[in-house]
Amino acid sequence: MSNYHIKHLEEYYQVYRKSVNAPEQFWEEIAEEHFLWYKKWDKVLDWDFTTPEVRWFEGAKLNITVNCIDRHLTTNASKTAILFEPNAPDEAAQHITYQQLHDRVCQFANVLKAKGITKGDRVCIYLPMIPELAIATLACARIGAIHSVVFAGFSATALATRINDSDCKMVITSDGSYRGAKTIDLKGIVDDALEECPCVSTVLVAQRIHSNVDMKSGRDEWLQPLLDAAATVCVPEVMDAEDPLFILYTSGSTGMPKGMVHTTAGYMVYAAYTFKNVFQYKQNDVYWCTADIGWITGHSYIVYGPLANGATTLMFEGVPSYPDFGRFWSIVEKHKVNQFYTAPTAIRALAKEGLELVEKYDLSSLKVLGSVGEPINEEAWHWYNDNIGKKQSPIVDTWWQTETGGIMITPIPFATPTKPTYATLPFPGVQPALMDEAGKELKDNQVSGRLCIKFPWPSMARTIWGNHQRYKETYFSAFENTYFTGDGALRDEVGYYRITGRVDDVIIVSGHNLGTAPIEDAINEHPAVAESAIVGFPHDIKGNALYGYVILKDVGESRNHDNLRKEINQIITEHVGPIAKLDKIQFTNGLPKTRSGKIMRRILRKIACNETRNLGDTSTLLNPEVVQSIMDNVL
Ligand code: WT7
Repeated sequence: MSNYHIKHLEEYYQVYRKSVNAPEQFWEEIAEEHFLWYKKWDKVLDWDFTTPEVRWFEGAKLNITVNCIDRHLTTNASKTAILFEPNAPDEAAQHITYQQLHDRVCQFANVLKAKGITKGDRVCIYLPMIPELAIATLACARIGAIHSVVFAGFSATALATRINDSDCKMVITSDGSYRGAKTIDLKGIVDDALEECPCVSTVLVAQRIHSNVDMKSGRDEWLQPLLDAAATVCVPEVMDAEDPLFILYTSGSTGMPKGMVHTTAGYMVYAAYTFKNVFQYKQNDVYWCTADIGWITGHSYIVYGPLANGATTLMFEGVPSYPDFGRFWSIVEKHKVNQFYTAPTAIRALAKEGLELVEKYDLSSLKVLGSVGEPINEEAWHWYNDNIGKKQSPIVDTWWQTETGGIMITPIPFATPTKPTYATLPFPGVQPALMDEAGKELKDNQVSGRLCIKFPWPSMARTIWGNHQRYKETYFSAFENTYFTGDGALRDEVGYYRITGRVDDVIIVSGHNLGTAPIEDAINEHPAVAESAIVGFPHDIKGNALYGYVILKDVGESRNHDNLRKEINQIITEHVGPIAKLDKIQFTNGLPKTRSGKIMRRILRKIACNETRNLGDTSTLLNPEVVQSIMDNVL
C-alpha cells in the first residue's frame, strides 16, 4: 500500500491511523519518496505550541521550483503545465508546457536578480489572473525571495498597508486588468499606494490591456523587454526547509491584516500530498480551480500543489458571468476539465440562472467537484451534485484556512461517502479537537464546540510577519497547547465534521474573509461618522452580507441619507476594496455596549438577522434602551 495515494475508505483509515500514531515516520516516508532534496533533514519535526514554534524537516535543503518544474522535464517537458483561459472567450487559450514554464520562470528570476532582489527580500505581486502571476510567484521562489501576493481587487490603501508591513522592495503589477466587460486600472492603484511606500524602489509592469499608464522614471519598467533579454536558465537557490516561501495576508480582529508566513518544505509536501488525494489527480487530467492566486486557495491549489504533481492546472482570467452565466460550463467543455474546484458563493450565483446555461454544455469530463471558502448550504450542494456532477462526481467540501496552508478536513473522493454540508473527515496528519468554552475537549461524537487542531501538520503558518506575539495570542492562547481555528464545528454520530462558521469577528462574504475592524475603521474616516459597527447577515448568494450600524456626529445631519450611504461605501471601497461594501446601513443614535465599553455585536447580529425573539442576556449592557430603538428602525 502506498501512503501517498489513498484509493479506498479502508486505506484512508489505515493511513490516517499511521499518521496519528507515528506522525514523524509517516511524513518522512512521504517526503522521502515523492520529492527532490539537495539534502535530507536532520530531524522530521520539532515543536512546542507554547512558544509557539514548529519546524518540519529541519536541516533539509531544497528548492520548491525544482520540485514543481525541473523534475518534470525529463518525462513531461511538453505536457501543459498552465492552461490559460483569457477573460474574452474569443481570445485564444494558451498552453504553457513544463519546458516553457521552466524557461519563463528562469527568465523572470533573472530579471529579479538583475534588479537587485536576493534571497529573503520581499516582493509584492499585484497582478490579475494572467500567466505572469504564476510565473512571478515561482520566479521569487526560484531565487529565494519571499513573495507577498496581494489580490488585485484590494484598494490602494489596503495594498500600501501590506507592502509596508512586510517592507517589500519591489512591486510586480500590470497596466490593468480585464474583468468581464470592465477594465481596471491596476497601475493607477499601485501609483496611489506607493505614495505611502518608501520601501519600494522598483515596479515591474506587465502589459495586459495596453492602456496609457504613467511610468515613473527610475522606478517603473515594462516587464516584457527585460524578460526577452534574460537567459532561460537560472540556477535555483538552495533553500533551507524552514526558509520562508511566502507571506499572505488574512483579516484579523484588529485593523492590521495578519501576514501569515509559510515556509518551504512542509508547505510543499502538504500542498502536493493533499492535491493528489483530494482531487485524485491522474496523469492526463485537466484540473481547474476557479480561485484567484491572490488567495491561499490559488497558492496551494492552482500553483504549488498541482505543479508539484506534474499536473495541468487551468488559470481563468475572467468572471463566471461573462459573457454570460454559462462561462464556467463552456470552459469545462472546451478544455475537458476533470476536476473542478470552486466556492459556494459562485455555485449559488450560477444556480440562480436558468439550467439551460448548464445543459448547453457537455460536462461529462468531470470526475471530482470541490467546494471551499465557507460552509456550503444544502440547497447549493444538491444543485451542484445534481446538475454539474450529474450525481456521478463526488463533491469534496474542503475545510481549511490561509493559516493552515492546505486542506485539513475533506472527503477523499471515491473513498469517503459524502454527506451534504459536511466536510467529513480529517486529512491524514490532521488531529482535530472540539473544545467547550471552558477549554475542555469534547471527546464524544454528536457534540459541537470550537474547532482546534492538537498536533502540528507540515503546512501550518509558522508566524505572523513581524509579530510573533500576535500569532501566539490569536491562535495558541484561547486553548492550552492547541491551535485554535476561529471556527465552530460539530461532529456527528460517525465522526464527520460540519463547520458551522466563525466564532470571532471575522465575516465570510462571498468566500472572502473580512475582519470587522478594518471596515469599521474605514467608515469612521467619513467626517460625518462618529462610530460604527459591522455584522454579517444571511444572504442568498454571498452567504453573508454586511450590515452596518452607524452613529453620525451630528444627529441633525442634513444631507440625504442615501448619499451618505454611497459615500460610506465609497470610503470602504478605497480603504479595503469593493468586496467589503455594506448591503445595509442603518443610522442609529447609539450602539449596545458593555460596561467596559465593548460593542455587543451578538445583539446587533441578531437584530440584523431578524432573530430578535431571543436576544440573550442584555443585563450587562450599559445602555439597554438603545436596543429597542435599533430594533424599531431595522432595515
Ligand atoms: C475560513 C478561512 C482556505 C481557503 C479559502 C478561505 C471558512 C473555508 C470552508 C468549508 C466551511 C469554510 C472557515 C475558515 N471556510 N472552507 N469548506 N466549510 N467553512 O481561506 O480566507 O483563510 O478563510 O473560511 O471559516 O476559518 P480564508
